Amino acid sequence: MLEVKSVSKSYKVGAKIYEILKDINFSISKGEFVAVMGPSGSGKTTLLNCISSFLPCDSGEIILDNKDITRMTEKEIAELCNKKLGFVFQDFMLLDGLTVFENICIPNLIAKTSLDKMENKARQLLEFFNIKEISDKYPAEISGGQKQRTAVARALMNDPLLVLADEPTGNLDSNSSKAVIQAFTQAKTNLGATIFMVTHDTFSASYCDRVIILKDGKIVKHLTNHKDRRDFHDTLLDVLKKFDGGECI
Ligand SMILES: Nc1ncnc2c1ncn2[C@@H]1O[C@H](COP(=O)(O)OP(=O)(O)OP(=O)(O)O)[C@@H](O)[C@H]1O
Ligand SMILES: [Mg+2]
Repeated sequence: MLEVKSVSKSYKVGAKIYEILKDINFSISKGEFVAVMGPSGSGKTTLLNCISSFLPCDSGEIILDNKDITRMTEKEIAELCNKKLGFVFQDFMLLDGLTVFENICIPNLIAKTSLDKMENKARQLLEFFNIKEISDKYPAEISGGQKQRTAVARALMNDPLLVLADEPTGNLDSNSSKAVIQAFTQAKTNLGATIFMVTHDTFSASYCDRVIILKDGKIVKHLTNHKDRRDFHDTLLDVLKKFDGGECI
């Protein structure tokens, strides 16, 4: 479904070139929930931004749905972001002047989906993520966990091929984080969503099928969850300690 092949990315600052991603290779199948972890500055956000084509990579291929997105035109990229990708950000990015219901509808308004279809889908997701009661409230009137569940619902409005999330639980307490990770696992199990998430939080990552560890722009480890979440959590803590002395936990 997603194939990242030999992707490299550097930034030029003044006369100096900094290599940020170095020959990154991995793939994600449909319906998988995959996390990327690693120390601050290891290139996680840069990788996510290359996959969403917010950033051009220097070399390599990113194949999504059999198309190389590194070779797309601007028009094709706009369509990709609007119709095939869903986004969840650390700071929610809800529009303050719109209600929960209206925020959830934004992707479909941009995609010009019919009103009936949009309302049905929004109601279904409100129910699914248990935020129906707050659908007429504004972001300032709801909790952090509710905001992020609203953001997850919004990311799923267009039935995207892939949901990209950058530290979706970064600003939340442990209970709210749990609710958001539950929202992702439900989306995966019941709606067949495919999710790629950057996180510093081993607890959140322990709910994933696989975790990719990035260090200094290179993948240093691929870990697979063999279905015992607690075991996987212990493994993640052990492995991360080895790679950065606990810095990213
Ligand atoms: N626009 C930019 N220009 C130059 N260097 C950049 C730019 N954006 C990021 N970097 C550098 O690239 C490296 C990787 O940054 P990135 O944001 O991908 O890290 P990260 O793993 O997401 O870190 P964090 O966990 O702190 O969010 C860092 O050293 C950062 O300073
Ligand atoms: Mg980051």
